[in-house]
Amino acid sequence: MADAATKTWVKVAREADIQKNQPHYVVLNNRGVALYRTAGTVYATDDTCSHAAASLCEGNYHGYVVTCPRHGGQFDIRTGRAVKMPAIAPIEVFPVRVDGGDVFLSPDDL
Ligand code: FES
Repeated sequence: MADAATKTWVKVAREADIQKNQPHYVVLNNRGVALYRTAGTVYATDDTCSHAAASLCEGNYHGYVVTCPRHGGQFDIRTGRAVKMPAIAPIEVFPVRVDGGDVFLSPDDL
């Protein structure tokens, strides 16, 4: 993984694209990523639920918790930690940069 100073950042969305309570799906490095916007901060996690591979972007989020649409497992979008069964394993979280309303992820992190 590159250090922060040498990372490449790629614009993946506009901040305004991320709807309240609805994860926003983007793809980078052939990997689906879910974007969230809570309390003025943008977060990014793997789109794939760690329980049985459902798309978290087909679920919803409230505050810092995303709910998987398949079995109702929940994750903290800040840490990826599973907070409600049947989800047990964490999901990956990714650093996000926001600049002028544009949202950037680094392919170096994916
Ligand atoms: S697939 Fe997400 S909780 Fe089962």
